Amino acid sequence: MKVLGIAGSPRRGGNTDLLLAEVLKGAASRGDKVKTIILSNLKIAPCQHCDGCLETGRCKVEDDMQMVYAELKEADRIVLASPIQFMGVTAQAKAMIDRCQVLWARKNVLEIPPLGNQRERKGLFISVGGRRVANLFEPALATVKSWFRTLDVTYAGDLLFPGVDEKGAIAKHPNALHEAFLAGQKLVEE
Ligand SMILES: Cc1cc2nc3c(=O)[nH]c(=O)nc-3n(C[C@H](O)[C@H](O)[C@H](O)COP(=O)(O)O)c2cc1C
Repeated sequence: MKVLGIAGSPRRGGNTDLLLAEVLKGAASRGDKVKTIILSNLKIAPCQHCDGCLETGRCKVEDDMQMVYAELKEADRIVLASPIQFMGVTAQAKAMIDRCQVLWARKNVLEIPPLGNQRERKGLFISVGGRRVANLFEPALATVKSWFRTLDVTYAGDLLFPGVDEKGAIAKHPNALHEAFLAGQKLVEE
């Protein structure tokens, strides 16, 4: 099984990076192949709503998103990690998600499988936020669930930690990293 981790934080070695690494360690401990894409290292332009994909089923913007499409297609499990920024996912994660409009077009307009093959995929969402406010994760969850649904990826759950702000603070949480490791194991066992 192939597990694709997508790091959506612009802060390298930050809280969601640490959680994502543990999830992937958990998956790898079960013998599965893991790979991480770091969105902040990539050039991914925002969707320009040119509507070209509605006719061709392909995004005409030739940037690093073409590689991400190929990785999504190859993956059996997809783990998106993004901290909360202004109540949503990061700009890096949102640009990647919006560029999946082509997959929406494939599925809903052209009526072809969004990722081109019919394998059973599952997705996990990892997030942290610095504050502790009601509904902190709700807007991001709505975006991420809509993205997974569009890709025909079954939502397998999430790891959500409020009140985690400083870089690396998640390592001081009593059980977050262990929970992440177990979630990675569970994701590939299901
Ligand atoms: C631009 C920006 C916006 C943020 N907005 C929020 C927010 O709306 N709510 C919140 O709880 N934390 C917010 N934070 C704090 C981050 O979610 C927090 O620092 C988190 O631990 C960062 O995770 P990372 O280390 O994986 O990047 C924001 C941080 C930045 C840089």
